[in-house]
Amino acid sequence: MVDVGAAAARGKQVSSRVSEDGAGWNCQTIGTFQALRPNTKTFTWLNPLTLWRSRNEVLAGLFGDPSPEVRRRWVAAQRERGVDPDFRIKQDVGEEYSFLVLGDTGEGDASQYAVIPGMLKLGEGTSFSVVASDVIYPTGSGNEYRDKFFRPYKDYAAPIYAVPGNHDWYDGLGGFMRVFCDAKPLHVQRQGFRLSPSGLRGLLWKKPDAIDEPALDEAQKMRPLPEQQATLPAPYWVLDLGRLLLVGIDTGIRGDLDREQGEWLRRVSADPRPKILITGKPIYVRNEYHPCAIEGGGTVDDIVRDPACNYVAAIGGDVHNYERFPVRVGDRTIQYIVSGGGGAFMHATHTIPRVDVGGVHEDEFRCYPLRGDSLSFYSLLYSKRLHMRWLYLTPEQGLALTAKQVGNTPPRHSADVPITARMRWAARLLGAWPMPFHLPVGRIFHRYISELSDWDTPPFFKSFLHVSVTAGHLKIRCFAATGCLQQEVEPPLEDEVEIPL
Ligand SMILES: [Fe+2]
Repeated sequence: MVDVGAAAARGKQVSSRVSEDGAGWNCQTIGTFQALRPNTKTFTWLNPLTLWRSRNEVLAGLFGDPSPEVRRRWVAAQRERGVDPDFRIKQDVGEEYSFLVLGDTGEGDASQYAVIPGMLKLGEGTSFSVVASDVIYPTGSGNEYRDKFFRPYKDYAAPIYAVPGNHDWYDGLGGFMRVFCDAKPLHVQRQGFRLSPSGLRGLLWKKPDAIDEPALDEAQKMRPLPEQQATLPAPYWVLDLGRLLLVGIDTGIRGDLDREQGEWLRRVSADPRPKILITGKPIYVRNEYHPCAIEGGGTVDDIVRDPACNYVAAIGGDVHNYERFPVRVGDRTIQYIVSGGGGAFMHATHTIPRVDVGGVHEDEFRCYPLRGDSLSFYSLLYSKRLHMRWLYLTPEQGLALTAKQVGNTPPRHSADVPITARMRWAARLLGAWPMPFHLPVGRIFHRYISELSDWDTPPFFKSFLHVSVTAGHLKIRCFAATGCLQQEVEPPLEDEVEIPL
């Protein structure tokens, strides 16, 4: 079994907070992950078919989101099958154990496979993994699990649980329910066309893919070991780990909870044991607060903050980087974490303003990639793509610019860099400094532009969490994957926090 304490101590010395090499800049040798990939295709959103297939996002925004109703049907069908009424699962993990959390994994290209070597290394001896949202891009299809789930995690020798993300819902959750809950497809309810918002939506809405069962059987054989198997009772669940509970919620397409799930969450959260929430939408992200509404009143965060419910951390995917907000609630500190760096194209951190949300001080906030590296990454990408060499900012310049903008001490030591007008304009155009318009570096970039970049060169700035539980405390560590061999051999430790239990 890997000695995570020792790996973390080494990882801390070689992180992006220590050197540019630690961030994966100046990569000499590309990682072994290349050999694991089924092909060298880059995941593409620009394909009109891909966009058409993920149209449910747009339709849900225009005509309302039918997912809560579909979720009720999935949940009712599972209850009929006789699953635990509170969707509890128990895994015997012993007194001291560890597990991994990966967010937003399923692109099936270099950005996903680059995470695998480090994940396998630090995952050795862990009891299980959890995928926090967006298991499969673009639409969660059951026919795409082979290369985006079973193949990448074939050598991970423990069960993998998951909560769905919005992308998994673009398939009506059909793929997710089939693979994780072993559920039969829902009977499609055909309604005659009505000239109404829901009628229009029904007409255009993408139905779940019919799953090619023999092909899925073949794919599942890539994870054949008994110790790799696990079945979830529903898309939301409680994992009983003895002294700790892991509570997974399903935030659907729009990022809220239906009434039935809200009641369930209140019920299972009344257990006094310490808990970690796993969600498809982070509660604190990019210096914003999203408490996650529950149908009929109240929010998920009301429950997380309630001292009686004893949540110590809330971890969410959806945004493809790592962020940690230690929020003081009464006499406790709850760790609100974004962990969406497990496989999809990186979302910028350099657009995160100076942090003050929830009373968190900028100096307590952590993110990966560092804002300066994020700015340099996007400047490189756009300067190449747009053939505008002046747009490029070195990592050192990126760090100097973002430290000046945010007003913090640069998180990585570097020589004093004079800030020129050219650098300022580049930073503005890339969203690091305020300007009414800037080039897309977040969701829009990911959706419409990332594939144009054919980004097959490290660093990828991917990350995953290693969580360990011992008698008195819980440790959450964020390890990086850059796609570079050096960081596969010694995964950098980008952040670590200890929580007393
Ligand atoms: Fe995502």
